Amino acid sequence: MYTQRLGSSQHDIEKAAEILAKGGLVAFPTETVFGLGADACDDLAVAKIYEAKGRPSFNPLIVHVSDVGMAKRLVEWNDQADHLAHAFWPGPLTLVLPMRTDAGVSKLVSAGLPTVAIRIPCHPIAQSMLRAFDGPVAAPSANLSGKISPTRADHVLNGLDGRIDAIFTEGHSENGVESTILHFDPNPTILRPGTITAADISSVLDQPVARLEHADNIIAPGQMTSHYAPRAAVRLDAKDWHAGEKRLGFGDVTCELNLSPTGDLVEAAANLFAMLHQIDDMDGDRIAVSPIPNHGIGIAINDRLSRAAAPRD
Ligand code: TXA
Ligand code: MG
Repeated sequence: MYTQRLGSSQHDIEKAAEILAKGGLVAFPTETVFGLGADACDDLAVAKIYEAKGRPSFNPLIVHVSDVGMAKRLVEWNDQADHLAHAFWPGPLTLVLPMRTDAGVSKLVSAGLPTVAIRIPCHPIAQSMLRAFDGPVAAPSANLSGKISPTRADHVLNGLDGRIDAIFTEGHSENGVESTILHFDPNPTILRPGTITAADISSVLDQPVARLEHADNIIAPGQMTSHYAPRAAVRLDAKDWHAGEKRLGFGDVTCELNLSPTGDLVEAAANLFAMLHQIDDMDGDRIAVSPIPNHGIGIAINDRLSRAAAPRD
């Protein structure tokens, strides 16, 4: 694929919004690092983010919005969020809040969690793009998985040229450090430190703010098995079906639900979370899943499925 280079003109901003609306990927500058953006409500577009980054697992992604009104349509808003939004948005603070049932955000964005991480970036290109697109944009840092976060377009292109639809080449990320992530559990706790500090947040909320050490491990999918496990027992690599099993297929097989009848791994990733829920809601207490090729985004799918199949506590 050819990666289109965009400048900062209004024409290019609208071009980016158009690409997002068609389910494409656009790398854009924020004040922290470059993000790799996709329409947060489009399962297939979000699956492409994971594929382009070569992420071996489905980590939840941050949703970028243009204004507080849009944030309120996605999450259960509260007074503390309101104070913080007034103080720090637009800017490098991400709030983790319960997702509204009518949010319409892809399950792949939250990796199946009941919460969603949300922020309003303050970089002018990010802001213009979000306003032009007029919808939520899911965006992790625009680097290949395991590589350092990019602060300039050429950093992004080093890893992702030819793997994404477009990139803004003019912006620069001044901070270089990803946004501070805060969740309420129910007390405000920092999951990832950033330029907005616990002291900054504490002075706005007028209460202490905890900082979770090694938060990455705690919020990593492996630590959250209870959020992820279907009710039914899961058998993987099923080359044939046993009596009484609900069948989650891949490729040309007869089954209740098929992740991708044509054997397309990106389509399978896009369907994964929604179909796991759907099949779990059907009658029966055993699910069998077709073998999924273990390459590309298939690695992330298998990682997720092996967690679903792991013995329960
Ligand atoms: O500065 C930033 O935040 C950049 C720019 C592009 O906005 N984005 C960024 O995204 O750093 P990413 O995907 O590289 O990091 C997202 C982090 C992950 O550590 C993830 O676990 C956490 O946010 N996260 C996302 N949703 C979450 C949720 N619902 N609960 C807890 N943690 C969440
Ligand atoms: Mg990152």
